[in-house]
Amino acid sequence: MLVLGIESSCDETGVALYDSARGLLAHELHTQMAMHAEYGGVVPELASRDHIRRLVPLTEAALQAAGKSYADIDAVAFTQGPGLGGALLAGASFANALAFALGKPVIPVHHLEGHLLSPLLADERPEFPFVALLVSGGHSQLMAVRDVGDYTLLGESVDDAAGEAFDKTAKLLGLPYPGGAKLSELARLGTPGAFVFPRPMLHSPDLQMSFSGLKTAVLTAVQKVRDETGSDNIPEQTRNDICRAFQDAVVEVLAAKAQKALLDTGFRTLVVAGGVGANWKLREVLGGLSVRPPAAKGGKRPPAEQVQVFFPPLEYCTDNGAMIAFAGAMHLQSVQKAGGFGVKPRWPLA
Ligand code: KG4
Ligand code: ZN
Repeated sequence: MLVLGIESSCDETGVALYDSARGLLAHELHTQMAMHAEYGGVVPELASRDHIRRLVPLTEAALQAAGKSYADIDAVAFTQGPGLGGALLAGASFANALAFALGKPVIPVHHLEGHLLSPLLADERPEFPFVALLVSGGHSQLMAVRDVGDYTLLGESVDDAAGEAFDKTAKLLGLPYPGGAKLSELARLGTPGAFVFPRPMLHSPDLQMSFSGLKTAVLTAVQKVRDETGSDNIPEQTRNDICRAFQDAVVEVLAAKAQKALLDTGFRTLVVAGGVGANWKLREVLGGLSVRPPAAKGGKRPPAEQVQVFFPPLEYCTDNGAMIAFAGAMHLQSVQKAGGFGVKPRWPLA
């Protein structure tokens, strides 16, 4: 079965072809980053219009790259939500119109399910069950994943998502939009320990997280530097040191919560997904993760156990069509007839 996947929930138009027997055949992506950069954030109306412009050429490019034609498509999967309403509608309309014209089914896909199944696109695939750490611009969640479609929310950020905190902090450090990845690169040049920021909710007994206070701590540090230097410009090394300290704080919280989720569930496989999954420090820290279960009453504490950690290939960390085509292929059983294409801008996965 050949599934065409369409992603248009925010500022990336992604189109891909996934063959249930042969795997991913092609994927095409257009990012609107440059278009939104001059406004310092995503402008929803511009995003929708650009998706409309890109969907047909990207689909044709994907078909050509895979050596396929429209007639070969067996089903069309699209991101139904969550995301920007207008942007979602562009993809939903295209997917439904194409499926209707071809007489094939449409498969509505939850954007976060796309992210959390994306590590299954790698050659080395995790086995169920696993804990998924979903860290994107809109979400920071820990999920217990027992099978395709069997998800339990274990905990999430009570305020800003991790990626959102990266972007907002980058903005207040004067980095161009979208600053998350840039901040992470500058953190490589920062001196560890030159600044220390709080680790919000690190020791809370649950799996909830909070990142908005961290951004305020950075703002306070920046203001202090400005007062001390008497200039609005932050010296380059100081800015890099702040980036380093910010990233270290976020990564420490994410790693500790992931560890707790593994202990709580008893699972020993962790899957990291979403844009922040591209972060080098997160990959470094989680790459060597182990968990040590507590001692049973009166007994000795058992030794630490190694955790198997899976990251999606970098190109599938941020929004893309491949993860939607793949999730669609996994859901072929629960297809919906073409037509009636509601979108779900707000849609919890579990
Ligand atoms: O998953 P994604 O492409 O879109 C959403 O569904 O939100 O994630 C985008 C987010 C942005 O907030 C971006 O700043 C962040 O992922 N991001 C990073 C890195 N690369 C992208 N955050 C930290 N370090 C990175 N290297
Ligand atoms: Zn996403």
